[in-house]
Amino acid sequence: MNKKEILFDYKKKIEKFKHLNKAYYDDSDPKVSDGEYDDLKKKILKLENEYNFLKSKFSPSNIVGFKPSKNFKKSLHKVPMLSLGNAFNEEDLVNFEKKIINFLSLHKNYEIFYSAEPKIDGISASLTFKKGKFYKGLSRGDGKEGEDITENLSTISDIPKTILSEDFPDEIDIRGEVFIQNSDFKNLNEKFANPRNAASGSLRQKNPKDTKKIPLKFIAYTYGYEKGLSVNDQFNFLKKLNEWGFQTNPLNKLISGVKNLLKNYIEVEKKRANLDFDIDGIVYKVNEFSLQKRLGNVANAPRWAIAHKFSSNKAISEILDIEVQIGRTGALTPVAKIKPINIGGVMVSNATLHNEDEINRKDIRVGDTVVIERAGDVIPHIISVDIKKRPRNSFKFKFPTKCPSCGSKTIKEFNTTTKKFDAVRRCSSEGYDCNKISVEKLKHFVSKDAFNIEGFGKKIVEGFWKIKLIKYPQDIFKLNYEKIENLEGWGKLSVENLKYSINEKKNISFERFIFSLGIRHIGLENAKLLSKHFISFTNFKNLSNEKKFDELLNIDGIGETQVNSIKNFFLNNTNIKILNELEKVLIIKNADIQKKNGRLKGKTFLVTGKLNGISRAEIKSLIEENTGITVSSVSKKLDYLIIGEKPTKRKLDNAKELKIKIIDQKEFLKLINKTS
Ligand code: IVH
Repeated sequence: MNKKEILFDYKKKIEKFKHLNKAYYDDSDPKVSDGEYDDLKKKILKLENEYNFLKSKFSPSNIVGFKPSKNFKKSLHKVPMLSLGNAFNEEDLVNFEKKIINFLSLHKNYEIFYSAEPKIDGISASLTFKKGKFYKGLSRGDGKEGEDITENLSTISDIPKTILSEDFPDEIDIRGEVFIQNSDFKNLNEKFANPRNAASGSLRQKNPKDTKKIPLKFIAYTYGYEKGLSVNDQFNFLKKLNEWGFQTNPLNKLISGVKNLLKNYIEVEKKRANLDFDIDGIVYKVNEFSLQKRLGNVANAPRWAIAHKFSSNKAISEILDIEVQIGRTGALTPVAKIKPINIGGVMVSNATLHNEDEINRKDIRVGDTVVIERAGDVIPHIISVDIKKRPRNSFKFKFPTKCPSCGSKTIKEFNTTTKKFDAVRRCSSEGYDCNKISVEKLKHFVSKDAFNIEGFGKKIVEGFWKIKLIKYPQDIFKLNYEKIENLEGWGKLSVENLKYSINEKKNISFERFIFSLGIRHIGLENAKLLSKHFISFTNFKNLSNEKKFDELLNIDGIGETQVNSIKNFFLNNTNIKILNELEKVLIIKNADIQKKNGRLKGKTFLVTGKLNGISRAEIKSLIEENTGITVSSVSKKLDYLIIGEKPTKRKLDNAKELKIKIIDQKEFLKLINKTS
């Protein structure tokens, strides 16, 4: 057979495989026997092994083909499963510790102990135990809601099914990592890109019997909801896990001081190659639960933990071209197209060049031989240029002064805080007028933290946009499904699914809605702040009439940059039209004020001067926990001024004049029924 024929044969097999998968997973109507199905799978894998030009995202070697998402019931995590911030070097660790010390207002020499736990690169799962019995097991999902994979998890022998220990809590979610050992991975008949994919594929098999075929392991490391847990720190918790019959990582250590964390990091990294499981870093967790509790979370990651990633893999390749991509906020990002190269098991053909300044600083040119680094799931980047290998006729890269998409001027903004021009150059149109920005905005709109429309990925956004099915966010809710059904790659069932996913998301929380608008400088955290402030979409939209933008400065956490950006958003007529149209098709839930009746309900607070043993950030979260509000200036609306050491005289005088209650730290703590 020649290449063309081989490809034809392969494609035919893939099509059949796709068809059988759909029948099996989506319609629960297997069209062939298991043997026949396996046979086809083997044939495809054999072809791929023989001819490395054969590739398909629907191949059985690719986990996507196995995704039987509709087979699992969804279920909410009682306590969300968080993710972790990353640290890459000593500086990041020093900052991590500094922030903790500041937040807790501890002495700068305070010795914080950390539980240092090698981070296994697997699939996390949450196992609920009730009265000592394994009751339910969920995948992480989006952190709030996971898939019920109880049966599949039950096949894992590392997971105890009954725990009789007296001190095992009445109810607890034990969380940890499901993974496959490298030695077992090698012996698998099926082809997966790496052990992680194998674990994920196995866990998501529709039939638990299939899960059992792949030897999965489970290592426990944290808990979610609990009732009756009597341990005070992480390291003792890990010990207890062992006593209760769970496996924990044998390389876990209790360590204090950044220097010692680094020492341990280097030691573990040396052992890395000889371990029978893949690790991609070390997780550090503040050991004391009481401190963890005080520190709390930012967005979806705890302040008390961080993942120290191992440095990645590096490789040498050549830059074939430099492309300038335009992002959602108009930022022009140069991307190096490189000769494809395998870096640590992943084929890399793009590397980010960050921004114009970075290209200039490193004088990166087309034709250069460069060292490329890939760390975890971060986009690969270029570390250095081998000048000796530079072709004679190469020339400096010229950054476009006009937007490659819409032709508008590109600009570098002046940052009034740093008194410097931005490193990033932007398209000055920054809106739906620029095609490329437009598409990126739509991608953001449907993305995970925004509308999270399942099955509406980036490729589909691009495809629909190209054929003018969508231009503005509201178009997503008025799709011409008949037209889609006739498009290549679509059919009745897939269109039904899409319709279902879209309709399902018409009901949205106010904070997600704000985030999805993609207003510059309004990320998840700020969207949350704004939603709490406005409570309802109507109030938010009213900004366009009332134009009271300066009032937003009163929201703690929102600064001038954000306010200017919100202002720009509301001054743009297209945006107002989008809001009006979306209002017609969506149900935007009002922000729920979590605890409606905290001790400080509706009262406003302002702090001036240095407090004793409590940082500003902590007092703010204490106020908010008790449903009070923090404001940033003294006005008639202020209920309490909390004064510490050396308060600002002007604030104090103003407060006295307005007859505002002035209290000290002790009196404040009494208000929330705390003594220290
Ligand atoms: S703690 C605090 N401990 O890392 C909330 N996570 O990026 C985070 N992971 O989804 C969980 N080893 O899959 C924790 N010893 C460990 C871990 C660990 C691996 C994974 C886990 C989580 C991800 C966070």
